[in-house]
Amino acid sequence: MDYLDYFDIVNGKLLFSGEDISELSEKYGTPLIIYSRSIIERNVRELMNAFDKENFSLHYAMKANYNPAILSILREKGVGIDAANLNEVLLALKTGFSKDKIIASPNNLPGNELKKIKETGVTINFDDISQFNMVAADPPETISFRINPGMGKGEFEGTTTGGKGSKFGMPPEAALKAYETAIESGVHRLGIHMMTGSNVLDPEFFRESTRTFFSIASEISHKLGITFEFVDIGGGFGVPYRDNEESLDLGRTSNYIKENMKNYRDLFTENTKLIMEPGRYIVANSAVLISRVTCKKDYDRNMIGTDTGMNILIRPALYGAIHPIIPVNKFFNKKEERGDVVGPICENTDKIAKDISIQKLEPGDLIAILNAGAYVTSMSSNYNLQPKAMEILLDNREEYIIRERDELQDMLNNFIIPEHLKAIGMDRL
Ligand code: LLP
Repeated sequence: MDYLDYFDIVNGKLLFSGEDISELSEKYGTPLIIYSRSIIERNVRELMNAFDKENFSLHYAMKANYNPAILSILREKGVGIDAANLNEVLLALKTGFSKDKIIASPNNLPGNELKKIKETGVTINFDDISQFNMVAADPPETISFRINPGMGKGEFEGTTTGGKGSKFGMPPEAALKAYETAIESGVHRLGIHMMTGSNVLDPEFFRESTRTFFSIASEISHKLGITFEFVDIGGGFGVPYRDNEESLDLGRTSNYIKENMKNYRDLFTENTKLIMEPGRYIVANSAVLISRVTCKKDYDRNMIGTDTGMNILIRPALYGAIHPIIPVNKFFNKKEERGDVVGPICENTDKIAKDISIQKLEPGDLIAILNAGAYVTSMSSNYNLQPKAMEILLDNREEYIIRERDELQDMLNNFIIPEHLKAIGMDRL
């Protein structure tokens, strides 16, 4: 990855999507996530062009980032949605996606939630026959099952969702029985689904996993005389996070997938749609998280304290993920230091980066944390009663606030102190 792909430098200032990061940080405060509409649109275009086919359908996995402003941009671009549960389906409907543009790929949901999803009319990729059985008495018109093709690849063990030990999907033999059961329950319109892991940069993996998946799907289709209406290959398309990593070669990846489709012509009839559900690829590099250095100390190890904690960015603590960090106002500083970049949360895992080399920073300096568009705010929390980041969108030379910074009251709204425990004179929290 080349950091300068992300930024422009004009008069010694670091610009993101044409705007001065220091100026925006002064105006809105930090931690601040700055999104670029044009980068989101470019990512969508890249995917659409790579798979440019009449029967191709792009569904954004909104778990990566469900900010309604971002969903709205994607709706305008004609992208569909992949939702993980009822709330995601409801938000997608609220932001204007029609039900035929939404698919749901839930896992281990209670029956009443599955029924409500069914009632919205969106198509469901059932994770297992046990989930389908919860709605089998009055089954949806179209259904699909998630296959575990016996292989998986993710950047981390925690982000690998196929293969042995995965909690997702069914092995081929179980899937065959599941389709039999669904057909017996009166379902006629069928699709098939897989999702084997997140942040994959190797086209060869997509070649192998789609080949295996298509061969399983084709066997089920032959054995049961099914013509699948869609074949959904999931998401997982990676973006580089480390400076020695190359971007995913989308051209090669899509050629491999198309080649495999040709080899399974019986599976891909004229009316069969190829569905993809990328989350990260569409939004990860569309945002930077700006933080301010608060203080420093250097005893057994150099600690660079910032105002961004693991409540805002949990990926390094959860997976050991790396997010590149760029000094904003010290970009040209010749002096470097080594150290951990740490936040204000009371955990020793509250480290955004460990033992990195970076231009020498002082309290008050700004840093930009890259790839902040995917799985950052959507995985954030209010641990330690810390606010989540404020978010702004850069759109056609204008900036728009798309998420306010939490105030204390926002974080208290759902708590209730029983009457008899209230302090004297207390009206509300
Ligand atoms: N479809 C389904 C059914 C999924 O479970 C996922 C992600 C996606 C699509 C989108 O995957 P993507 O294209 O974004 O790789 N929190 C982790 C990533 C977990 C992904 C889980 N499923 C992270 O921060 O890396």
